[in-house]
Amino acid sequence: MLYLLDTANLAQIKKAFAIYPLKGVTTNPTLVSKEQTDFMPLMKEIRQIIGIDQDLHIQVSSLENEEMVKEAQYLVDALDPNIYVKVPITKEGLIAIRELHKRGVKTTATAVFTGQQALLAARAGADFVAPYINRLNKMGGNGIALVREIVTLFEQYELTTKVLGASFGCSEQIQETALAKAHAITLSPALLEALLLHPATEQGVQKFKEDWEKIYGKRKIYEL
Ligand code: E4P
Repeated sequence: MLYLLDTANLAQIKKAFAIYPLKGVTTNPTLVSKEQTDFMPLMKEIRQIIGIDQDLHIQVSSLENEEMVKEAQYLVDALDPNIYVKVPITKEGLIAIRELHKRGVKTTATAVFTGQQALLAARAGADFVAPYINRLNKMGGNGIALVREIVTLFEQYELTTKVLGASFGCSEQIQETALAKAHAITLSPALLEALLLHPATEQGVQKFKEDWEKIYGKRKIYEL
């Protein structure tokens, strides 16, 4: 499972990419609006930080299919053809995904809450579908079961569309999504940090340090 970072914050992106083996960045209108800055320069800066070989998913702002396509084409022309254009899985979005697929523009169907939305998006030519796990759980649904269903459907019909798990509330949901065979997930910087933390790891590292220093002091291996 690949890890993508769900933010448009440049400082968070720089920091996380220096540490974690990330595959890319996803944004949406909510995340972008938090940055309160010019949109295209921000997208260009994100691309520059992460590099051209990383995945960059950028969401359209329009809700109408022709406008979605126009925005998507603008993004591809102004940035690069490697980007994934995120399109909400509505009727208008489905039309846009089909048109963008014809044009060779890569898409991610977003705000997916059912297996059938995912299957329709895949049939329309979406490269990724993004099921919202935590939001579905909060509505009384089962986000992990949804991921499992979508993975099963795509395997069953031999579809190449991939599953990008999105909307997480805790590390356990991420672990469950991995076990459900999602191809990728997108998560917040805070959750990414939480994934690596365990008190026993910190205690173990501290004990290694103390034991080493009892015999070798502050000297390093290359000084011995
Ligand atoms: C993904 O496409 C979305 O940006 C995101 O994961 C939604 O997460 P939220 O439910 O925490 O806002």
